[in-house]
Amino acid sequence: MPYAHITGWGMYVPEPVLTNDDLAKIVDTSDEWIRERTGIRERRIARAHEFPSTLGTKAALQALSVANLRPTDLDLIICTTSSPEYVFPATAALIQDQIGAPQAGAFDLMAACSGFIYAVNMAAQAIRSGSIRNALVVGTETLSRFVNWQDRSTCILFGDGAGAFVLQASSQPGGVLSAVMHSDGSGGNLLTLPVLGGRVPANEATLHRGHQYIYMDGREVFRFATRMMVSATEEVLRNARLSKEEVSLIIPHQANYRIIETAARGLRLPMERFVVNVDRYGNTSTASIPIATVEAVQSGRLKPGDTVVFVGFGAGLTWGALAAKWTGPLPSPRKITVSRYRLVGRVRSLLRRLQRYLEGLIWGRKA
Ligand code: UT7
Repeated sequence: MPYAHITGWGMYVPEPVLTNDDLAKIVDTSDEWIRERTGIRERRIARAHEFPSTLGTKAALQALSVANLRPTDLDLIICTTSSPEYVFPATAALIQDQIGAPQAGAFDLMAACSGFIYAVNMAAQAIRSGSIRNALVVGTETLSRFVNWQDRSTCILFGDGAGAFVLQASSQPGGVLSAVMHSDGSGGNLLTLPVLGGRVPANEATLHRGHQYIYMDGREVFRFATRMMVSATEEVLRNARLSKEEVSLIIPHQANYRIIETAARGLRLPMERFVVNVDRYGNTSTASIPIATVEAVQSGRLKPGDTVVFVGFGAGLTWGALAAKWTGPLPSPRKITVSRYRLVGRVRSLLRRLQRYLEGLIWGRKA
């Protein structure tokens, strides 16, 4: 049975920065309150021409470049997002087209902020089963479009960004060691975004009631999060037969500094063992774990051979954790220029559209 290694990683955050002081001009809040209660100082906000697929594509191309893998060699793309570009088509399919990955199946996975852990686990399971060799997992968000900028309890929290991993099969032991995924739908009402779904139609009445915005019971989510971060980490380590001492780094979902601090206390681990960047990006939902991972690699905190635990929680309610032996790119004979494949992919995509248009002319279109 092959092992599933994480061989590439990438991230992208939009340039515009929204600071706590900027927010204090919009709602009744202060830099001091936000920093004390959440640890957040600023977040990034997507520009009008940036969408989940735009951000996700940039992160994906970087991840493929690190892995030195051609987009054309991808068998599977899983995009996980809490702010999809459309209900359908899947954001994963938009990314498949934009990176030029004609052999890849593509679908979205919805597990809110736990999505990235779920998706990496699903990709790893597909690789371990032998059915695929190369997978791309993307977490991408433009949550700023679903935030009620008049609601001070939620608008301070969220930010936009994307992160991606490439996973590949190898006979070398290592890579994803174990994973746990959990859910409790009885808490579904604690964190919701109603209007994108089939239950609450987008009409004048529902929009007037603000159903197009994120609703959250912050205190309840906080209590749930601190409990589940501890239990999921302990469970995944038990399954992988690892002790806490063997873990080099824990990369948690970045929702609130206090949640991470409380979980660290619960696990009796020092904060130095945790990666925290919520101060600069806020909560980027499915993108927060890969963004934190990329920064940990870039700063030298995560190195090949290290044991790392990813742990997250979110709406659903969902939660999960994944333990991995960190690998890095697999050896390959020559350097690949991913942008060249992307260009070919763009041309292929244009030709497909043209072909469809011409076929429409030949076979006739219904008005
Ligand atoms: O990815 C998962 C998504 N979500 C989360 O992980 C969030 C989990 N929850 C949290 O992070 C925290 O609950 C919050 C940061 C959302 C809120 O912090 P808190 O310490 O739980 O505050 P609270 O909701 O208990 O509110 C305390 C007070 C309230 O005033 P009163 O009722 O005590 O007078 C709020 O109205 O703080 C007030 N408040 C604010 N004040 C200034 C709420 N938001 C703000 C604000 N600025 N932005």
